[in-house]
Amino acid sequence: MSNSLFRTKNIDKILADAASNEEGHGSGLKRVLTVRDLTFFGIAAILGAGSFSSLGGAVFSGGPGVVILFLITAVACAFTAFCYSEFASRIPVAGSAYTYAYASFGELFAWIIGWALIMEYCIGNIYVSYSWSDYFTSLMHRCNIHVPEYLSTSYMEAKHAIADGSTNADVLAAWNNAPIIGSLRLIVDLPAFVINILITYLVYRGVKESRNFSNIMVVLKLLVVLLVIFVGGYFVFANGLTPNWAPVNDAGIHSFMPNGFSGVMAAVSGVFFAYIGFDAVSVLAEESKNPQRDLPKGMILSLVICTVIYVLLTLVLTGAVNYRNFEGVGDPLAFIFEPQNLNIGWMQFLVAICAVVAMTSVLLVFQMGQPRIWMSMSRDGLLPPIFQTIHPKFKTPSFSTIVTGMVVGIPIIFTDKTFVLDFTSIATLFAFVLVCGGVLLIPKREKQAGKFHIPFINSQFIFPIIILGALVALGVFVNGYYKHLFQFSLTATESDTIIKSIAKPTSEIIEKALQNAELAKLTLNVSTIIFWIVALLLSVLAFVKKYSLIPLLGLITCLYLLTGMTALNWAWFASWLLIGLVIYFLYSKKHSTLN
Ligand code: ALA
Repeated sequence: MSNSLFRTKNIDKILADAASNEEGHGSGLKRVLTVRDLTFFGIAAILGAGSFSSLGGAVFSGGPGVVILFLITAVACAFTAFCYSEFASRIPVAGSAYTYAYASFGELFAWIIGWALIMEYCIGNIYVSYSWSDYFTSLMHRCNIHVPEYLSTSYMEAKHAIADGSTNADVLAAWNNAPIIGSLRLIVDLPAFVINILITYLVYRGVKESRNFSNIMVVLKLLVVLLVIFVGGYFVFANGLTPNWAPVNDAGIHSFMPNGFSGVMAAVSGVFFAYIGFDAVSVLAEESKNPQRDLPKGMILSLVICTVIYVLLTLVLTGAVNYRNFEGVGDPLAFIFEPQNLNIGWMQFLVAICAVVAMTSVLLVFQMGQPRIWMSMSRDGLLPPIFQTIHPKFKTPSFSTIVTGMVVGIPIIFTDKTFVLDFTSIATLFAFVLVCGGVLLIPKREKQAGKFHIPFINSQFIFPIIILGALVALGVFVNGYYKHLFQFSLTATESDTIIKSIAKPTSEIIEKALQNAELAKLTLNVSTIIFWIVALLLSVLAFVKKYSLIPLLGLITCLYLLTGMTALNWAWFASWLLIGLVIYFLYSKKHSTLN
């Protein structure tokens, strides 16, 4: 067994390792966090670039109907939060999905999760850096300092926008005004790059965000978001803008979901990204007063609060401004107050300042999280020992911190927001699927007083009924659902609508747009068919094995969200996993401490 790919790390050993590895954790600091602190920490990690930035792209794709996706995603995350809590209650160390997988699925899956978490933390931070830059340049602009567009836009974003016939003025200016060397246009998001260097330096030197500071940041974030909701909401009604909630789509129909449900699902990366971070609460297991009881409460409460905020924000944004105007808008919360929209200068200024500060804190949290995961992996022998190096003076994981800085910083030069957003979301969803699946696989245990247990609800009949009921309901209530599901190419009406939506149609742009839409439809339909097949198989398993319902629902909802990923996302993610597997077999398997 010791050489098996699925060898597991013993829970007692994990607890013993945690006890012996606790550098820098003064015992006096331990077990002080309450439900309120955990909830604040959850909000600190959740509320960031997702609400301040990716919401713009999400509403552009799905219109006001994106609120439905926020609700579905919240449910998926809530089930997953229960699964994290179950693990955290069994293995109450400052762990992560990586540690949990090591104890349940075994080494190979633990490695895969650790590898996927790089995307949650590092690639996620690339997105936050880009968003930080959007707000920073918007703030500078308000102070009459103009950062040239070619120094505040990513090269790939400009290139894609030009190829797709975008009308976004900033991106066009970046492309047209950039200095050219040979055939290369010098376009780079400099503020995003610089903030990453500064954050890496701070983390390297050992920034200790005190709890009070973190709580102040959360209050600041909440205040500004609530202000946007109240001020924006007031003007939506006062200016009679509520018809924006049923905008006209390209086919000339008024709808809450102008691009249909597929338009809503296309926003899944942006919406899911907005929820990433609730899982970070589980890293505080060792510092909470009563982790078994309080961690689940903290996670669920922060999820509920953020869900209410997201739904209201989406309604305010899509009420204040027609959803079509959010194309390429990276600072939507400030954008709605611009002169051509609600025209409230002070709000624009306030939102930009708070966004810059709030996103700096998100960057810090994630940039500190990644080196810790690498340290754990290195201690288990899965990464070289140098990843455990602690700086003699600053007492920080110096090597891991620098590598994190490079993994975030270098791609800033040659990727774009859409790419990193999709990449982060697919990997994190994948990790969530494994966490929910892991809970199904760990042995049942006796109920212990004061410890969190996922309430056991037998899924034997309920789950198959839910799945079969959903399949029947879709056939009865959604017109042509199955016909559409098995139709893999665009219909004439769909092609027509796509052509009408192109601002600057040339034959090349039209052909590309149609090809992209065709591939998107094919991917969505194929992944939905696979999803239903998996759901039916899980129904059979649930019937036979009498699985616990909550983790099963977590698994199925996360799998459902994965159907919103594009073919390109899957291709990149598969390549990333392949690289991870090569490293595992060439290095990690041989050096594992379990050998
Ligand atoms: N949910 C976090 C954010 O929106 C990652 O920034």
